[in-house]
Amino acid sequence: MKVLVIGSGAREHALCRSLSLDPAVDSLYCAPGNAGIAEIAELRQVDAMNAASVADLAAGLGVDLVVVGPEGPLVAGCADAVRARGIACFGPSGTAARLEGSKAFAKEVMAAAGVPTARSYVCTTPEEAAAALDAFGPPYVVKDDGLAAGKGVVVTDDLEAARAHAASCGQVVIEEFLDGPEVSLFAVTDGTAAIALQPAQDFKRVGDGDAGPNTGGMGAYSPLPWAPDGLVDAIMSMVVQPTIDEMRRRGTPFSGVLYAGLALTSRGLRVIEFNCRFGDPETQVVLARLQTPLASVLHASATGRIGDLEPLRWRDGAAVTIVVAAENYPATPRTGDPIEGLAEAAEVPDAFVLHAGTRRAEDGSILSSGGRVLSVTATGDTLAVARDRAYEAVGRIRLAGSHHRTDIAARALKGEITVG
Ligand code: AMP
Ligand code: GLY
Repeated sequence: MKVLVIGSGAREHALCRSLSLDPAVDSLYCAPGNAGIAEIAELRQVDAMNAASVADLAAGLGVDLVVVGPEGPLVAGCADAVRARGIACFGPSGTAARLEGSKAFAKEVMAAAGVPTARSYVCTTPEEAAAALDAFGPPYVVKDDGLAAGKGVVVTDDLEAARAHAASCGQVVIEEFLDGPEVSLFAVTDGTAAIALQPAQDFKRVGDGDAGPNTGGMGAYSPLPWAPDGLVDAIMSMVVQPTIDEMRRRGTPFSGVLYAGLALTSRGLRVIEFNCRFGDPETQVVLARLQTPLASVLHASATGRIGDLEPLRWRDGAAVTIVVAAENYPATPRTGDPIEGLAEAAEVPDAFVLHAGTRRAEDGSILSSGGRVLSVTATGDTLAVARDRAYEAVGRIRLAGSHHRTDIAARALKGEITVG
């Protein structure tokens, strides 16, 4: 099978890594890719936001499957354009991708499907926002309605900050605060049937102890040793299947991966958000343990054959990933600095480095080129071993001004996470 992956982050590097290890994949392309992906796939230039260009590239390469990684190209209709050329594509249509592209739309679908989520108001004026903030009280949760790379959400006790964020966004969703641990679950679907991958936990805030602003995600681990029995089945039956059924009923079936971000609150599980693509950095830890060849799973989604898949097989043990971010991320990150120690990091047993914001300079050195620069992933027989390996590898990487969280998976390891 010839496969083209669209995107350039650590998630796409993880997808390419798993696809490159799949014996069914004989040619692997990535566009636009990054310096790390270049080592395992042939890179091509493309403007991923231009659906026609992506479809032209796929047709020109004669690929059997296109895998669209990020939400932007999906919302822009990349999957529609590829499918219109008769090429199988993993990822939802632009219409179905609105489940991520508009939080108000996602709320409407959840209400119709009876999916549990935070109570919310959609507000377009400062007066409406003020009334909604009053109705819920602190902590305040204010979400930009559109795509914002994980950074459009403000959770704060400060009423003025909540009002200011609402005023800066245009249309916002204001909702009740959800307590309890968060879970990310990826369900691969063909629009009718769905199959769950193993759950992961992401760390959204930039600093240790969940301090500072939200980011795209600073680290993750999987599986979740504290997860209640039956959690995945409950999410599939209460959240994923009803949502997929509702999207199909509307004539806009959702295929690809439905990413459910959930809070396990004292009153039961609640959806925090839907995404229309694999999560980053959760994908790094989930795919690190998936033994079933990835292309078969993605191809089954793209061709309506999820129901034919055998149960997925998983490596025992755990995986941990730590994001190395550039100085000043998530604000304007510093870029263009040399990254050293990559080979030494990869020498740690069962550790590997996935590139995000990197590029190769003319002299062959690797330079930082984005906010989240790398994602260092490791597996092990236990969460403790995987975590130690991941931090050992991170410690070998040198990038001026970079930062990473030092507490990824720490509370899970100490048994400090409880579900109400
Ligand atoms: P989102 O982009 O909707 O996933 O929000 C980003 C992060 O903000 C989530 O991962 C949560 O940590 C936090 N968050 C979002 N909505 C809520 C909520 N209703 N209650 C508490 N925290 C929230
Ligand atoms: N890890 C959060 C996201 O991918 O949106």
